[in-house]
Amino acid sequence: MREAKVELDDLIVPIFVDETISKPLEIRSMPGYYRIPVEGVVEEVEKCLDLGLNSFIFFGIPSYKDEIGSSAFDKNGVIQKAVRLVRKEFPDVVIVTDVCLCEYTTHGHCGIVKDGKIMNDETLPILGKIAVSHAEAGADIVAPSGMMDGMVKAIRSALDDEGFTDVAIMSYSAKYASSFYGPFREAADSGYKFGDRRSYQADIHNGDEALREVELDLKEGADIVMVKPALAYLDIVRRVKETFRVPTCAYNVSGEYSMVKASAIQGWLDEKDIVYEILTSIKRAGADLIITYHAKDFARWMKEGF
Ligand code: PBG
Ligand code: ZN
Repeated sequence: MREAKVELDDLIVPIFVDETISKPLEIRSMPGYYRIPVEGVVEEVEKCLDLGLNSFIFFGIPSYKDEIGSSAFDKNGVIQKAVRLVRKEFPDVVIVTDVCLCEYTTHGHCGIVKDGKIMNDETLPILGKIAVSHAEAGADIVAPSGMMDGMVKAIRSALDDEGFTDVAIMSYSAKYASSFYGPFREAADSGYKFGDRRSYQADIHNGDEALREVELDLKEGADIVMVKPALAYLDIVRRVKETFRVPTCAYNVSGEYSMVKASAIQGWLDEKDIVYEILTSIKRAGADLIITYHAKDFARWMKEGF
């Protein structure tokens, strides 16, 4: 009798697509994880499919950046190209795309900046354009991660206006201003040049605030809500699930992965057992879906038998 058991269908594999490289590049702070060139993305997805993994979230590293992140909504941008290739080859895989500006702006923030301040409302139409361009390329689900107020509503109406009423929104609703994102910023080249993200991400001291953010996103039309990071926030995962009873995703983030990898490399803990325990705990807390860099390893171990 097992109440919570992780299935491969619960897992979403993050894929970093880099427009500036021609062969996979290992991410220094995430041992065993690679940036993939655009031409390599079909092969990468195929490897995952062979392991029984069917859902992907794409992050892009573009070849050019500017103040407003225009490469994020370029028809021939890195994500748009990658998604088109994957969609053409595999009509049935689930494609989620990260919708944000930080990888595409010179300042590295998730919104447009004026006089050192994040301009929430000016950012919204751009997020709409990014989402539409991802939908045109073949995304099933768009996942806004910038924590701008009103982003879900702006994206929903932009998608609907262009006829993409079936494209779902998975919102990073309860995204905390966390230090666990450190390795990701190297992975996605999305570190910011000044300040921090505390003006738009949630305060780690607060739980009720996160629930209010989730409630707002649901009212604006989010189909799936997300809690991020996962492990230090399992209480939030549980509260979100119990309060709203909607599809809930937890993001087992880069720093959580790197901690496990670092100690496994040292031989200080058993990676297989730890990953099994971590993913099970996230599921037990109430997550329906888990974004995790451990997905491929986990799938391999499932195949071999734990
Ligand atoms: C940026 C974004 C971040 C992550 C996903 N999208 C980092 C941040 O907000 O700085 C973090 C993912 C991870 O750490 O694995 N919008
Ligand atoms: Zn961002």
